[in-house]
Amino acid sequence: MPRPMIYLLILLVCASFVPLALIARARTSVSSRPRIHIVPDMDSQEKFKAQSASLLFSDGRAMRLPVEGTIAQGELQDDDHYYRGKVGETFTTTFPDQIRVDRALLERGRERFGIYCAPCHGLAGDGDGMVARRADELQEGTWTPPSNLHDKTVVERPVGHLYNTISNGIRNMPSYGSQIPVEDRWAIVAYVRALQRSRRASIDEVPADKRSTLR
Ligand code: HEC
Repeated sequence: MPRPMIYLLILLVCASFVPLALIARARTSVSSRPRIHIVPDMDSQEKFKAQSASLLFSDGRAMRLPVEGTIAQGELQDDDHYYRGKVGETFTTTFPDQIRVDRALLERGRERFGIYCAPCHGLAGDGDGMVARRADELQEGTWTPPSNLHDKTVVERPVGHLYNTISNGIRNMPSYGSQIPVEDRWAIVAYVRALQRSRRASIDEVPADKRSTLR
């Protein structure tokens, strides 16, 4: 074989390792560039990403707002009694039909009350929660004490009013509507009623066979 032929062969053998080396490198390194597309299908196409800008609309944003008055599926709150605690313009004195006041609801209410209300109102509703006690201690003079839930005015509030207090807040108390789902609000209302009742019940309301255990 002539010499130049041998050199050429050696060169070709060496060159044939180059693609292998490149592939090996590509497999172990990372790149932010898209991979090479020989047939570009629809993998990459022009589009606006979330929160990006667009010159097409006068407000400059690519994401469009839903048409005014749009209601998401399952979000239609057309039942005033259930969603707002109101019948007509007045606060309801009865629980809505969707709510069955039973032991499970009260247990749920107690749990939720412990999370959302007790820090201010105290576990028994006397208005002496940890936050309230700490605020008293600090004596900053800016604190409005949480209501005692056993006060006559609160006891006499209709359940719809209590529900509304949780949903929208009242005077200095903030609203908890965005944190507590509707059903849980009713559960808390039921539990507050139970708390209030626990202070005001007379001995005649205790079943006869249990009375002796109380005295
Ligand atoms: C951050 C502290 C705080 C939390 C938490 C809180 N409250 Fe209050 N609550 C207050 C304060 C303060 C008032 C009195 C507001 C005022 O008089 O300006 C009040 C008043 C009330 C009243 C009396 C309203 C009336 O009819 O006059 C009720 C009922 C009540 N809260 C229920 C609840 C329930 C139920 C929860 C839990 C979902 C809750 N609160 C959570 C601070 C709180």
